[in-house]
Amino acid sequence: MSDQPSTDLREAVRSRYAEAARAVLEPRPGITAQCVESSAPGSCCGSSATDSCCEAGSAAEAVGGFGESLYREGETDGLPEEAVLASLGCGNPIAVADLHEGETVLDLGSGGGIDVLLSARRVGPSGFAYGVDMTDDMLSLARANAAKAGAANVEFLKGEIEALPLPDASVDVVISNCVINLSTDKPAVLAEMFRVLVPGGRIGITDVVAEDHLTPAERAAAGSYVGCIAGALSRAEYLDGLAAAGLADASVTFTTEAAPGMHSAIIRAVKPAAR
Ligand SMILES: C[S@@+](CC[C@H](N)C(=O)[O-])C[C@H]1O[C@@H](n2cnc3c(N)ncnc32)[C@H](O)[C@@H]1O
Repeated sequence: MSDQPSTDLREAVRSRYAEAARAVLEPRPGITAQCVESSAPGSCCGSSATDSCCEAGSAAEAVGGFGESLYREGETDGLPEEAVLASLGCGNPIAVADLHEGETVLDLGSGGGIDVLLSARRVGPSGFAYGVDMTDDMLSLARANAAKAGAANVEFLKGEIEALPLPDASVDVVISNCVINLSTDKPAVLAEMFRVLVPGGRIGITDVVAEDHLTPAERAAAGSYVGCIAGALSRAEYLDGLAAAGLADASVTFTTEAAPGMHSAIIRAVKPAAR
């Protein structure tokens, strides 16, 4: 998917999302987290609100981005503005995961915390929502947002989604919003999801997924790695990876076309219950 060594790619991802977090933490005219995410290095975001880097952004943006309104009307009411401004997802994993009161939820690559805060509301005081992210500025933003929201049942942990800082069988539901495509070791992420889920637990994820006929080179030509396009798995690769990790009843459903042959998608699967 890219010729760059994986450590370089990971650092490029971390640096891009640190910049996106700072666009919210230290607001400047015309610079949004979304345009930082999608722009070419060094070209982002002019110094005035009229100088929009997003016009020169990725292929995803050229065809309308990942969907203007990922969340239902009113769904984000009452959240800190900074959590909404930092939203960089490609779907709504909360809607996908069908969360219930009392459940423990884990969000992989939690960014500014929007999906963790929404999950915390859904699971209520008897439930708990964790977010894991590797980028310090994103963690600072998410923790500030949790404090502003007065959310007592959330925690943001520093870590990589390929080596989750949580014990085996400790969460009921794994969610994630437009992050797994950014991982340089996707089999490790899928294995970690399996490990931390309780038997009978489930995943409800949104991610960018390629049509099966697109080669890695064609995916790379459709957009950048840090912009969530080039690193996307194909649907067949996703399904094979979920099965190899031990997850069952898997499905990958395309929703919005983000670039030619590349889609926002909903991914569901369950960890088989122990016998
Ligand atoms: C596209 S943003 C999505 C953020 C959030 N899920 C949302 O919907 O707004 C990707 C986030 O994943 C984090 N991330 C990317 N790769 C990661 C990895 N391997 N381990 C942990 N976090 C990662 C980045 O720091 C960033 O905050």
